[in-house]
Amino acid sequence: MIKGIKGIKDILPEETPRWRLIEEAARRWADRYGFQEIRIPIFEVTALFARSIGATTDIVEKEMYTFPDRDGTSLTLRPEGTAGTVRAFVEHHRAADPLPQKYYYLGPMFRHERPQAGRLRQFHQFGVESFGTQDARADVEVIALLWRFLTDLALPALTLEMNSLGTSEDRATYLPVLVTFLEGRRDRLCENCRRRIATNPLRVLDCKVPGCRAATEDAPQLTAYLSSEAKDHFDRVLEGLTMLGIPYRLNPRLVRGLDYYCLTAFEITSSHLGAQNAVAAGGRYDGLVEALGGPRVPAVGFAVGLERVSVMLPEQRLPISAPSVYVAAFGTEGGPAGVRLLDELRRAGISAQSDYRSQTLKAHLRQADRGKHRFAVLLGDDEVRRGFAVVRNMETKAQAEVTLANLARHLLSEMGLF
Ligand code: HAM
Repeated sequence: MIKGIKGIKDILPEETPRWRLIEEAARRWADRYGFQEIRIPIFEVTALFARSIGATTDIVEKEMYTFPDRDGTSLTLRPEGTAGTVRAFVEHHRAADPLPQKYYYLGPMFRHERPQAGRLRQFHQFGVESFGTQDARADVEVIALLWRFLTDLALPALTLEMNSLGTSEDRATYLPVLVTFLEGRRDRLCENCRRRIATNPLRVLDCKVPGCRAATEDAPQLTAYLSSEAKDHFDRVLEGLTMLGIPYRLNPRLVRGLDYYCLTAFEITSSHLGAQNAVAAGGRYDGLVEALGGPRVPAVGFAVGLERVSVMLPEQRLPISAPSVYVAAFGTEGGPAGVRLLDELRRAGISAQSDYRSQTLKAHLRQADRGKHRFAVLLGDDEVRRGFAVVRNMETKAQAEVTLANLARHLLSEMGLF
């Protein structure tokens, strides 16, 4: 037997209703905020991700699915959606059209991480990217969209964590101070963090190893090194959130695992998730469009992990399935009449099923029960000859004779669809 790949999950029919609910909510909220759907490719040239996410990030160093194309070009399955969206924005000269432009996407992403609860190698994101607005109100808008989407789905125990990563100049002032501090604590850091002092010192602040956390407890904070421009932007974002009644917590250790961010960085966590408690994350990335060959266009966005949304979705948010009809047709005339009736009901907009293996009324009714159908239509040779069918309410067991000519209309009105 050939099995699926570790960390790559099937989404079976029992789960798809919750996925559809989540995806429909995502589209509805994106639409209300004026974001338009973009569909970017699943794979891109590897250099795109190295250049945007950062060559020394965990994603690029360890987690990408990279393979040579037949001509030797290095390709990579997208680990996230921002890089591809910006690439498309630049490639299609979108900045020449009026700004702002706001895009959203839904789809699978791929990271070779160690699989565990809430962490997969193929997972799905709903992401948005807002191009062209430097104003803090654009940051507030994407965070509000994210917050309204998650709370509309009634996800429990959400915390919005906020930080500012400053401008690149702010970080240039701060990083040597941080590096000196980390060098002084080198012995207490894990192997990975010791290496990061030279390659990506900010990431040390995000290490989950308890020893590293303790060693960096009193590390100098980037927020103390913010320029007045960065501080002012951050204050205005926080004021905007307060004005909209969106609660947040400041987290000076929030540094994000992707290098393209500047100024605003945020994450939404839930205590209902295990170790992988981040539901969504994002921030501002004013330099990325330019870094990928476009003009200087400021941008801000987020991505939500849909598997994590799905496990937290309360049962009562699940849609009740639409009422359906079971056609119990039997006999030499009833059989073919049943096929015609199924066709007629479906064309009238009714969900109608039958089990062609069932030969007796009893077997049919068992299938109608099993399928949780609202009505069964009983159709034997005698009914066909008389031009009637028996409509049985599967819950009350009440039965009524209805003429075949009137059947679709009768069922539509019984089910409140007409
Ligand atoms: P990210 O923090 O890498 O950001 O991912 C966003 C979300 O995707 C996470 O909070 C998490 O819910 C989900 N996620 C990430 N990795 C996994 C995994 N292995 N298994 C399951 N879920 C996962 C980004 O991807 C940025 N592109 C967000 C962004 C958009 N920033 C600006 N625009």
